[in-house]
Amino acid sequence: MLREKNPPSRFEIWKMFDKISPTYDMVNRVMTFGLDCLWRKKMAAFLPEKKALTLLDCATGTADQLLAFMRYSKKITSATGIDLSQEMLQIANQKIKKKGFDSCISLQEASLLDLPFENSCFDCISISFGIRNVVDVNKALQECFRVLKPQGRLLILEGAVPNNRLLKAGHHFYLRYLLPFLGGVISGQPQAYRYLNDTISSFPCGEKFCAYLKDVGFTSVKATSFTGGAVCIYQGDRIT
Ligand SMILES: C[S@@+](CC[C@H](N)C(=O)[O-])C[C@H]1O[C@@H](n2cnc3c(N)ncnc32)[C@H](O)[C@@H]1O
Repeated sequence: MLREKNPPSRFEIWKMFDKISPTYDMVNRVMTFGLDCLWRKKMAAFLPEKKALTLLDCATGTADQLLAFMRYSKKITSATGIDLSQEMLQIANQKIKKKGFDSCISLQEASLLDLPFENSCFDCISISFGIRNVVDVNKALQECFRVLKPQGRLLILEGAVPNNRLLKAGHHFYLRYLLPFLGGVISGQPQAYRYLNDTISSFPCGEKFCAYLKDVGFTSVKATSFTGGAVCIYQGDRIT
């Protein structure tokens, strides 16, 4: 098995994203057969029913989720993306400028575990394929709850494991063998993709993850799965 000489510690997993940033978008398209664009579009349908939304996209990466929101919803008037990886943010910045959204989207280097914002300042927070990479999921969800306004909504898009036994077996094979191979060949970082895939299989999904959201205080919690259960969109509202 190929091993990196100095793999990042569990607490610095985000550093790995600096290395895979140049090919991150391409690997996503190839690995999901383009379905990630569809899943991001679905996220826009879960935005709160309010005009002039302020949105925070956590672990924003190369800003694909932010740009999908801007493309498929006209409700967002101001958006902020945060991430710890400077290289991912640099690519995000170029894409945002190219699409002409630099007047309403700002980016900041910050951790989801210590959000540099006042209490109750966003109408919506999104996290796409980011929550499973943080070392303390509970702390991250508490931070989201804190900076959400009352009546605000948290939306999480994350990989999941299908319930159906046949689909589950195919999904396991795909994650275990095909994905690290494809990701490794395209990015030159097989170790990174081996780690990313392991985190999908071990991360709590469906009702288990809903329980995390409820524990932090979110209400109207629901999980909606797509693509045979390979991904899930979680929604949780902050009432007061
Ligand atoms: C799989 S990528 C997802 C990127 C993007 N949201 C998307 O949908 O493509 C995970 C991102 O989480 C970021 N990340 C990991 N831990 C973080 C933390 N504690 N705070 C902020 N970002 C973090 C990584 O740097 C990386 O850009």
